[in-house]
Amino acid sequence: MKRVLFASFESLPFVKTGGLADVVYALPKALNKEEFEVKVVLPLYKSVKEDFYHGMKYLDHIYVKSGLINEEANIYSYINEGIEYYFIENDNYFFRDGVYGYRDDALRFSFFNVAVIEMMIKLDYHPDIIHEHDYHTAILPALCKLNYKAIEAIRSIKHVFTIHNLAYQGEYDKQILFDYLNFERVHFNNGDLRFNDSCNFMKIGIVYADIITTVSRTYAKEIQTPEYGRNLDMILKYRAKDLYGIVNGIDENFFNPRKDKLIPMTFHSRNYLKGKAYNKEYIQKTFGLRVDPTVMLVGVVSRLTFQKGFDLFLDSVNELLKRNIEVAVLGTGESRYEYGFKILEEQYKGKFHYHCGYDEKMAHTMYAGLDMLMMPSAFEPCGISQLIAMRYGTLPFVRETGGLKDTVTPYNEYENTGTGFSFGPYSTHDFIKVFDYAYTTYHDHRERWNGLIRNAMRADVSFAEPAKEYENLYRKVLEK
Ligand code: GLC
Repeated sequence: MKRVLFASFESLPFVKTGGLADVVYALPKALNKEEFEVKVVLPLYKSVKEDFYHGMKYLDHIYVKSGLINEEANIYSYINEGIEYYFIENDNYFFRDGVYGYRDDALRFSFFNVAVIEMMIKLDYHPDIIHEHDYHTAILPALCKLNYKAIEAIRSIKHVFTIHNLAYQGEYDKQILFDYLNFERVHFNNGDLRFNDSCNFMKIGIVYADIITTVSRTYAKEIQTPEYGRNLDMILKYRAKDLYGIVNGIDENFFNPRKDKLIPMTFHSRNYLKGKAYNKEYIQKTFGLRVDPTVMLVGVVSRLTFQKGFDLFLDSVNELLKRNIEVAVLGTGESRYEYGFKILEEQYKGKFHYHCGYDEKMAHTMYAGLDMLMMPSAFEPCGISQLIAMRYGTLPFVRETGGLKDTVTPYNEYENTGTGFSFGPYSTHDFIKVFDYAYTTYHDHRERWNGLIRNAMRADVSFAEPAKEYENLYRKVLEK
């Protein structure tokens, strides 16, 4: 039995700000339990303490000393759906309302990474592999290999580092490396820890991990180019032979149109027409749109950031609204987009609705009741929403980038195949052209449209296949 420890700053059901939390929740459950014993380590945040503390078991107490860091922490254990989670408690750093975005983030991340190693030593728990997720835990490989090299059990751990989004890298003043993390200057001076003249956690992860993965094959290629590489393309290229793309899946129990308690009417791939129509009407009513089963209802469920293509969306939507469609938007984010959506709502009452906020029930209902989900992302490492949409028979409308390209099969009217619609260049021209193709298919070839819904609902969007690819990589890294 091989032991794998996931180190992350987010995981459902405890804490979520993005898709990272879905993956760290779903992947451990999908891995073969006979061969791999997976545990997860997370910070103990305020909200998690409020909701889960009573079910936690106190394990031990550790001292975390590293440079100027001199703190204590408690370790708790919590079992959820057969997976053991370790929680590291330090209220100075984690008893706050949010997860990230604090002035002392570099210190909080540094503390956590060192605490994970101290925890392993204290508990005498020695994983064969640490699987780090995103830049928050990306310094673990370097810490284990450099600062703890005297301890064989720590030094010999293998590291698989998954990049969920290259856009967030953790760039800080270089002093962090010496003052908090205690790294020797020689590793900075020789370039290994250095990025320009500063510290970049993502880059350190890429240099020191044994294997690097990202969340789709296309994104793995894209990030080796200047266009998508965020200044790290050269270093990713340098590690190309250890860089793999494995697409995400979703938890098919959690996202299940047959059983989902959050949607007004459940359905399966044989009676979907009735269920989807009911849910669509519910959205129209709740959002003050005109109730009409024949109008095409398209929508967005997303963080409102540049990544998700909202510039393109806002540039195209006035043109789209000339057609017999309705638009529903759910999400919060950058104020320029929120503002843009509020204006549209004023302008197109009964035809455009913007729900500024996040609402789990409404999100699920939209996945289940929209005709089409819009994801014209500028870049997209994988994307989760298009997978959920397909599972619920809502056709994704995506730009061909990253995981969107790898998971959505565009409609082919000659072969009658496809699970959605896609366009290539980031331009309003291409966006509107393909949208019109979807629009005419919806109105003039309903049989074919319904066939696409069936294809989408039957597509395998689970973690079953991706989990096998991770297992192969785990085996491979252990042979290194
Ligand atoms: C990030 C990416 C998203 C990906 C998710 C989980 O949120 O932006 O594309 O699906 O991580 O890997």
